[in-house]
Amino acid sequence: LKVNIDFKNQPSKNYSVFVDELNEIVLDTKVAIVTNTTVAKLHLDEFLPLVKAKEVHVITVQDGEQYKNFETINYILDEMFKAKLDRKSTLIAFGGGVVGDMTGFTASIFQRGIDFIQVPTTLLSQVDASVGGKTGINNSFGKNLVGAFHQPRAVYCESKFLKTLPKREFAAGVAEIVKMAVTFDKEFFDFLEKNDLNNDNNLRKAIAKCVEIKADVVAKDETEQGIRSVLNYGHTFGHVIENQTKYSKYLHGEAVAMGIVMANNLATKLNLLTQDEASKIKQLLEQYSLPTTYELKDSKDFYEGFFLDKKTFNNKIKFILANGIGDFKIVDDVSKTLVLESINNEQ
Ligand SMILES: NC(=O)c1ccc[n+]([C@@H]2O[C@H](COP(=O)([O-])OP(=O)(O)OC[C@H]3O[C@@H](n4cnc5c(N)ncnc54)[C@H](O)[C@@H]3O)[C@@H](O)[C@H]2O)c1
Ligand SMILES: [Zn+2]
Repeated sequence: LKVNIDFKNQPSKNYSVFVDELNEIVLDTKVAIVTNTTVAKLHLDEFLPLVKAKEVHVITVQDGEQYKNFETINYILDEMFKAKLDRKSTLIAFGGGVVGDMTGFTASIFQRGIDFIQVPTTLLSQVDASVGGKTGINNSFGKNLVGAFHQPRAVYCESKFLKTLPKREFAAGVAEIVKMAVTFDKEFFDFLEKNDLNNDNNLRKAIAKCVEIKADVVAKDETEQGIRSVLNYGHTFGHVIENQTKYSKYLHGEAVAMGIVMANNLATKLNLLTQDEASKIKQLLEQYSLPTTYELKDSKDFYEGFFLDKKTFNNKIKFILANGIGDFKIVDDVSKTLVLESINNEQ
C-alpha cells in the first residue's frame, strides 16, 4: 500500500508513505541510521541489510523520552561529523516517535538541512508521528517546545516490526487510531468496531487508513493554522493528565484515551454527540485495555492545567470535539462551568 502526500503549492516537498512495502532503501549518498538501544537489539540485524548506500553508519541513542533533548541532538551531530557526512547525506530514523522527532530535527539543522527518511517502529509513530514533518525535542520548560517543520523524503511503515511492541505501547497507538476515526471517518470507526487490530490484515488496513487521513490533513495545513489542530482531539485534556501525573503514570496514548472520553463528555453536553455514540467510543478504547477514567483530584486545578498548554492562546481554550462520529467541531467559547462539569467524571 502506498499513500502520497501532495503539497499542492510546494510539490518539491511531496513524498510517499509505504505500508508493508519495504524491500530495500537504495540511496547514492552517505547514510546514517539513527536508532535507540532497544530497537537496535530487536530489529537492526533485519533492517541494516536493506539499506544500500555509499556508506551506512549507525548512530544509537539511549531509549526514553527523557533523552529527547539537546544533549542527544549534539551527540547525533557529533557522530555525523565524525563519519564525515555532508550536505548530500541522508538520515534514516529507525525507532518510535522519540527517535523520529529527534532524527528529523537533526536533519533539519545539520548543515542547514539535509534529507531524512522515517522507518517508524511503534504503532503510534506509524499512524501519527512519522508523517507530517513535525520534528523536535523537549526542554525544561515543556515538551516539544523546540523544533522545526521538516518533511521526510519517504516513510516506510512495516507492521512486522510491531510484533515486539509491548501491549501497552500497542494500545497507546490504538488511541491515536480511534482519534482519527472519530474525527474524520465514520466508516473507519465502524471498521474498528468490527475488526480486531491484533489481526495482521486489519492492522495493515488501519495503518494505511490513518496515514491517508493524516496525509490529507497535513497536505492541507502543514504548519497547523487550521485543520491540522483537529489531530489534537483528546489531547487538550490528555496533556493536562500527562502533566498532572508528571509524564510517568500514563503513556501519551493512554492519556489521550482518557482525554477523548472527557472531550466526549463535553460534546454530549453541547449536543454534538449522543450518549450512545460516546459509549461506543469508550467501549472501543476499552477493548484494547486503554484507561478511560482519570482519577481526578481537583477539577479547578485541572482547569488551570489547560492554560499551561502551548496551544492555549489569549486565555481561550480551544476544544476539538466530535460532531457525531466521523466529524469534528472546533469550539473555543465553552463556559468554565460546563468544562468543569465534563471533567468531573461523577457528573
Ligand atoms: N511529530 C509528530 O507529529 C508527533 C506526533 C505524535 C507523537 N510524537 C512524539 O512521539 C513520541 C512518542 O512516540 P512513541 O509512542 O513511538 O514512543 P517511543 O519512541 O518512546 O517508543 C516507545 C517505546 O517502544 C520502544 N520500541 C520502539 N519500537 C519498538 C519495537 N518495534 N518493539 C519493541 N519496542 C519498541 C521504544 O524504544 C520505547 O521504549 C513523543 O515524544 C511525542 O512527542 C510526535
Ligand atoms: Zn498524540
